[in-house]
Amino acid sequence: MKDAAPQPIFLADYTPPAYLISDVQLTFRLSPSATRVLSRISFRPNPDAKSRDFSLHGENLTLISAAIDGAPVTPTLTETGLSCDVPDAPFIWEAEVEIAPAANTALEGLYMSNGMYCTQCEAEGFRKITYYPDRPDVMAVFSVRIEGDAPVMLSNGNLVAQGDGFAEWHDPWPKPAYLFALVAGELVNHPGQFTTRSGREVELNIWVRPGDEGKCAFGMQALKASMRWDEEVYGREYDLDLFNIVAVDDFNMGAMENKGLNIFNSSCVLASPETSTDANFERIEAIIAHEYFHNWTGNRITCRDWFQLCLKEGLTVYRDSQFTSDMRSAPVKRIEDVIALRARQFREDNGPLAHPVRPSSFVEINNFYTATIYEKGAEVIGMLKTLVGDEAYYRALDLYFERHDGDAATIEDWLKVFEDATGRDLTQFRRWYDDAGTPRVTVTDDFADGTYTLHLRQHTPPTPGQEDKPPRVIPIAVGLLASDGTEVQATKILEMTEEAQSFRFGGLAAKPVPSILRGFSAPVIIERDAGAAERAFLLAHDTDPFNKWEAGRELAREGLLAMIRDGAAPDDRYLDAIQTMARDDSLDPAFRALALGLPSQDDLAQALHDGGTAPDPQAIWEALETLRQARAQAMQDVATRLYAQHQVTAPYSPDAAQSGARALANAALAMITRIDGGAQAQRQYDSADNMTQQLAALGCLLQAGNGAAATAAFYDQWQHDRLVIDKWFSLQIVNAAPQDAARIARELTQHPDFTLKNPNRFRATLGALTMSPAGFHHASGAGYELLTDCLIKLDPLNPQTTARMCSAFETWRRYDADRQALITRQLHRILAQPNLSRDTNEMVSRILG
Ligand code: TRP
Ligand code: ZN
Repeated sequence: MKDAAPQPIFLADYTPPAYLISDVQLTFRLSPSATRVLSRISFRPNPDAKSRDFSLHGENLTLISAAIDGAPVTPTLTETGLSCDVPDAPFIWEAEVEIAPAANTALEGLYMSNGMYCTQCEAEGFRKITYYPDRPDVMAVFSVRIEGDAPVMLSNGNLVAQGDGFAEWHDPWPKPAYLFALVAGELVNHPGQFTTRSGREVELNIWVRPGDEGKCAFGMQALKASMRWDEEVYGREYDLDLFNIVAVDDFNMGAMENKGLNIFNSSCVLASPETSTDANFERIEAIIAHEYFHNWTGNRITCRDWFQLCLKEGLTVYRDSQFTSDMRSAPVKRIEDVIALRARQFREDNGPLAHPVRPSSFVEINNFYTATIYEKGAEVIGMLKTLVGDEAYYRALDLYFERHDGDAATIEDWLKVFEDATGRDLTQFRRWYDDAGTPRVTVTDDFADGTYTLHLRQHTPPTPGQEDKPPRVIPIAVGLLASDGTEVQATKILEMTEEAQSFRFGGLAAKPVPSILRGFSAPVIIERDAGAAERAFLLAHDTDPFNKWEAGRELAREGLLAMIRDGAAPDDRYLDAIQTMARDDSLDPAFRALALGLPSQDDLAQALHDGGTAPDPQAIWEALETLRQARAQAMQDVATRLYAQHQVTAPYSPDAAQSGARALANAALAMITRIDGGAQAQRQYDSADNMTQQLAALGCLLQAGNGAAATAAFYDQWQHDRLVIDKWFSLQIVNAAPQDAARIARELTQHPDFTLKNPNRFRATLGALTMSPAGFHHASGAGYELLTDCLIKLDPLNPQTTARMCSAFETWRRYDADRQALITRQLHRILAQPNLSRDTNEMVSRILG
């Protein structure tokens, strides 16, 4: 079985389950190397099924006994499950299996982390716990008894009985197995309380390892804010008397929305000013909201099958981004989201791993928890809201909750709700779900007789398995500015539905300056030769904050491309315009900090590739360095003033205002460091009383090549704190010179604190290398080799995390022949490993194409 080529499964092959479940009783007799799981499941034939064949999923299980209606049976066992003859009527299945949580390094199913038992069942981990129809359209009411000596033993729902060596839980809400969870260990709780709008008293807890109690207050506050927000904005209340969150150190992803028992990667919930940056706080708040919001979008309404993953993930990401916008600054959140979308999703959509928001086939579902499903899935919902309007959007959502509560639903169900609520035909809109690839929209314009015309043309390049893409409906938000900066046309949504279309604006005195794709109203690439003067004008005058930021970014990007391609000097028009922007105290400091950011190395590599040049990662890095140096030189006075002006003297708070001030001051510090060699950064490092300030200063010192002493001091100060030490691993690599990055990363993999078994540490080290393109893609090939060495070692332990990290190679076709040869050699080295996991095999095969 293992050696056979991995077989894809197809959306088109969906068939309803043969048997449904009324309720499940599970008993766990916990033991690290020999946990017994007893199941008692009431099955009944599904009237809608096409077959009566009874089979259950199961992997790595030792079957001890099985019985049907009390009579022992001997099922046929395979590597992936069992089948058995069953009555053509309701029956009770009972089984006992043995599993070894302490030997489970894949972190899927029941495993151990620091002596604590915990589970991760999404997507298909429950089948590693017991034999079960492990598919999301089989929903059941779970009762769970946990037997063991752990002081705290948790599962979903409500605690119904507890005594010496046992705890019993009951979850009244039917759920698919992927939402099952169990946690047992020595844990302490940070308690909280929430009263829902209708008066339900909910007990809240954040459970952590002893010693982490002091890092829970912020998460608790974020949870309560999320609960209130979902009531106010979506009318959704919590539906149990208890809500538990548990922090776990060893976790493959960010967090998991198990019903009533969310499990979090400790990096995504634990926070304190001393150990967490402002960015960490913002991310923790968003992830807590995200998992909480899943209670309705994911749990009460779940997915029929994993092809529908975006139904819960796209919508829940969209909801958490709305939440963050409301809690903080909406424009800042939008800009951050678009930076991330372009960095991860556009990159994916333009390479060998491109796939639709709703894929039609996959080999390993774990490989489809992607930026496309999550982030593009959220963008698609944002477009839908733009097209139908806010009022209709919330009306459609009400109908969705009303119609599909308790269902395992599909994208068809979702779109039907919008069609029924608005009367709109969404046939063309559906292409956003079915077609992969990022549309390009080419824009030209003309002006005659007081009428301004925008000519738009859309085109989506081919992606694997999809050659021709018909035009999509694209909402393009446009505004027009007069030459004095006044807005002559407020934001208007142009609905593009054809391949080529023109839109007219009459009654204008002079040719206006267009502001196109305001708020990034669609996940597309606008192609337009605007010229530096127009970009500088929009950076100064655009009333749309996103496009104001975008204008500065484009100005920088075009200047950088000219530097890389033609050896041009830094563009004075950029230096002048960005300086004017930075000086403008009417602008939000957080916005100014973002506007001082530069396009990433990866963005520039993609742009060069799109323009027909193989990117040279070293040349890109040098151009960015040169521009940063020129800017620091040109902006000395501004930087000094901004730095002084935005020092926060009030007690630390991670709120938007304070973190914006720190972000701008630290952007200024980076400029100052290029002039003073690190004197100011060292002073900030020495006096910092929070991680944001400390880490920013350390980054500057490392950039200046003066970080050795601070790096050592940082380790001494924080060696007891694993999350801070993750930052220590990353920072040294991210700030290394290109020729040193792979060597430093390799040395760090030899450090006593490095371990392959902890995904956070692995990502902090190898992920940091892959996020430093000039280092990772260094001509020596040392970066490729180190990553490959580590992936080969990790794959037998943790296929999921290995496979995800393989996407570092997804851009290989952009590069020159030498680099392509170096990379493909490493990819073939991975493929040649005996017993390579299905996860990694699929990723590498798709990347090679
Ligand atoms: N459903 C989780 C979320 O988005 C994602 C997740 C957590 C996950 N852990 C996982 C997905 C493990 C696959 C495997 O909130
Ligand atoms: Zn999610």
